[in-house]
Amino acid sequence: MTRLVTFGVVLIALVIAISFDKYKNVPVSNEQFDIIKKEASHKAHLQELKELEEKRLALLNPVKEEEAAVEEGPLVVLDTPQLVHGSELYKACVVCHGKKGDGKKSQNAPKIGGQMAWYIEKQLVDMKSEARVNKVMMPYLKKLEGNDFKDLAAYISKLPW
Ligand code: HEC
Repeated sequence: MTRLVTFGVVLIALVIAISFDKYKNVPVSNEQFDIIKKEASHKAHLQELKELEEKRLALLNPVKEEEAAVEEGPLVVLDTPQLVHGSELYKACVVCHGKKGDGKKSQNAPKIGGQMAWYIEKQLVDMKSEARVNKVMMPYLKKLEGNDFKDLAAYISKLPW
């Protein structure tokens, strides 16, 4: 009996001694207690979040940039009397085709800015003679005559495509 108890005690002591030894050999890293490193990585993380937020806002408000670009200068350099006259006439078309001639879905009006001048002129002449029927544009076409078609076409073709 005593022998058995002694054997048991020795065995337990041995197990404890071995596990202490193992514990001693576990490498201790100070990395997770390095406050300076932690702060730096936290700052980098905040910076990353800030950049992402800026990107998100830029995606949400692309219109603002576009408006700013339009205000930079005239869309077309009006260096001939024809272009000056065309730009005056085009003011009536802006409601449907837009300032830049890029069309409006709400009006079913197609993009015409930058289209070839001869094509625009032909469409306008055809619409007025009703070879091409366009009821919504008719009231505006009635006011056009003579060189108006050519002048309008010249101006519209100069708008950015
Ligand atoms: C009330 C809205 C409206 C106004 C104002 C208007 N248009 Fe249009 N325009 C349209 C619609 C809608 C069409 C498409 C018609 C169709 O489907 O045939 C069109 C088509 C055209 C086309 C033919 C485009 C193509 O690719 O075939 C030209 C060119 C054009 N418009 C020029 C003008 C000009 C120049 C003015 C100003 C004098 C003007 N429009 C004013 C609504 C308008």
